Amino acid sequence: MTVEKRILCIGAGYVGGPTMAMIAHKCPRYRVTVVDINGERIARWNSDRLPIFEPGLDEIVRNTRGRNLFFSTDIPKGIAENDIIFVSVNTPTKTFGVGAGMAADLRYWEMTAREILKYAKSPKIVIEKSTLPVKTALAMKRILNSNHHGVSFDVLSNPEFLAEGSAVRDLESPDRILIGSEETEEGLRARDSLVEIYANWVPREKILTSNIWSSELSKLVSNAFLAQRISSINAISALCEKTDADVTEVSRAVGMDSRIGPRFLNASIGFGGSCFKKDILNLVYLCQHYGLTEVADYWNAVLRINDYQKDRFILTMMNAMFNTLSDKKICLWGFAFKADTGDTRESPAISIARRLIEENARVVVSDPRALENARADLRDTGAVVSYVEDPAEAARGCHALCVLTEWDLYRHQDFERIYNSMEKPAFLFDGRNILDHGRCFDIGFNVYPIGKPPMTHF
Ligand code: NAD
Ligand code: UGA
Repeated sequence: MTVEKRILCIGAGYVGGPTMAMIAHKCPRYRVTVVDINGERIARWNSDRLPIFEPGLDEIVRNTRGRNLFFSTDIPKGIAENDIIFVSVNTPTKTFGVGAGMAADLRYWEMTAREILKYAKSPKIVIEKSTLPVKTALAMKRILNSNHHGVSFDVLSNPEFLAEGSAVRDLESPDRILIGSEETEEGLRARDSLVEIYANWVPREKILTSNIWSSELSKLVSNAFLAQRISSINAISALCEKTDADVTEVSRAVGMDSRIGPRFLNASIGFGGSCFKKDILNLVYLCQHYGLTEVADYWNAVLRINDYQKDRFILTMMNAMFNTLSDKKICLWGFAFKADTGDTRESPAISIARRLIEENARVVVSDPRALENARADLRDTGAVVSYVEDPAEAARGCHALCVLTEWDLYRHQDFERIYNSMEKPAFLFDGRNILDHGRCFDIGFNVYPIGKPPMTHF
């Protein structure tokens, strides 16, 4: 079969791996290669134990790998042999120097730009898939044009909107695909060739094109708006707890207004994940850079409420459990930042576990997919933490049970048996409002949901 397009992706992470697997799956006539500097990660992409868990991903990789999807550490060869290059490396928050704690750390991204420049022998279309500050494409273009050896480069912005845990579904039927380009003849030609890739399976009306700066900024703004909804409902959950209102009832009533919509209104212990906090910090930094102090403060408040929500959760536990957690055994159901992923980056469970350890509690962590990452996240805390996969087993002998991730399996446990195996009085803190609180209360638990009146036997 003739190969119609040769595509490379630099960065084989949560975005690069699934995105390229979907392109290979939908476009059998394209040859797709994913490269990474992390040899261990590439080895796992080439094994039966993929480096990330995503429902439906194993099957797609199994069907395409070795056919038109390849994983490799040979970055120079990848750059030399492919004409279309996606860059999907990590862009974490900077931890040093100017903008530390806020700005995006672009060192991985710049390293790739320099490598592309070094190894490219023919014209390339370079696509920003990573989430980047607005105006980054300009820097990319400057680096690529810094050495005139006759090779031309077009830079496009094509941010990714998939969510972890539903990546395959999101990639298969995205709400939209966004492609930003320069509005020059070459820019528009490069844009059309990327549109052609997605048009293999995405309806044409869902493929939006825009100027490159709008595209870069829209990604940060989308994440900021999503996180803002969560902080809005979490802020209201605090008020519900003071007023005997029920946050689930409030979000249902509010979300039925079609102008508002029902999604992303679940009160919780706060949002986690590798992007919301990083991208909002980045937005705040950009606003400060342009002297927009009020705008920066507005978005910063979304992050403040997120921290406040985690603080409130610990305070509720302290107040309920007689103002001491010392030597009490606390079981955490869930460590992943959301259900259906093993990812724990910025998971609220990390800070909650650490706060409990500071209070001298003994912590038992349970999670169906994230125990390996949880162990790494809490490695420095020592013997006070134990890890037990089975949720009922994990709760045995504990004074309290905290639901931190909305895994479906937690809804279907034998709560009577769990209650009987726990220390009394037994406490249940449902940080995700997923359990049947009335039933758990009837069994004997003292139940503390988020944004609803507690149900106690005292
Ligand atoms: P990740 O950390 O899982 O993967 C990034 C990969 O890039 C790593 O495997 C790393 O080894 C590799 N890498 C770094 N520098 C490299 C270099 N010079 N050459 C080759 N490989 C290199 O990150 P991720 O979660 O996939 O996120 C990537 C980008 O996509 C970020 O900008 C993020 O904000 C954005 N994004 C992430 C998600 C998500 O759900 N995780 C969704 C949308 C957008
Ligand atoms: C989010 C966005 O949803 C994606 O569109 C975006 O591409 C991605 O960030 C990114 O740029 O990385 P993700 O972080 O994978 O995706 O997961 P979400 O489903 O957005 O959940 C984020 C956090 O918010 C989780 O901790 C989740 O539990 C929490 N959440 C979500 C709530 O607390 N309440 C809700 O109603 C929804």
